[in-house]
Amino acid sequence: MANIRIRNTNERLTTEESVREFLEAQGVLYEHWDPEKLPEDLRDKFILSDEEKAKILETYHDEITSLATRNGYKEWDIISLSDATPNLDVLLKKFEQVHVHTEDEVRAITAGNGIFTIKGEKAGYFDVELSAGDVISVPVNIPHFFTLMENRKVVAVRLFIDSTGWVAHSYNDPDFKA
Ligand SMILES: [Fe+2]
Repeated sequence: MANIRIRNTNERLTTEESVREFLEAQGVLYEHWDPEKLPEDLRDKFILSDEEKAKILETYHDEITSLATRNGYKEWDIISLSDATPNLDVLLKKFEQVHVHTEDEVRAITAGNGIFTIKGEKAGYFDVELSAGDVISVPVNIPHFFTLMENRKVVAVRLFIDSTGWVAHSYNDPDFKA
């Protein structure tokens, strides 16, 4: 279950209701998929074969197609990051720059954890800590970045309208304090 830290006030939101209400008010889609649908051997596995990635997509086929139909996503895949990922530290440094995209950034966490730091219209920057089952869509043109938590591992489904056009445009924000 996701929880939120609002950076300006250090307020934490830890109940499902408060998290849902806050993200809805910020225009950030949030939903929850049942993490127990995933076969047990894939719940803590971060080096994945193509067959295992296909198994994850197959497990959440209904949830993926429902979300894709609602929001117009056309493609999906699996991303996995862990200390086994070559140059993880370099990658994380790159990720941790505030940026925007010309389409939504959609991530459904299936194992491990991740944090999206997002600039809310009213709330300023807030951190959304995600665990298995949490699904988030950072809307188009909303400044944000992604990083890992202390365990440095995550598996997520990514959904795109057009993955070839999905690039990060850096967003230089004097309001942002790391
Ligand atoms: Fe992004």
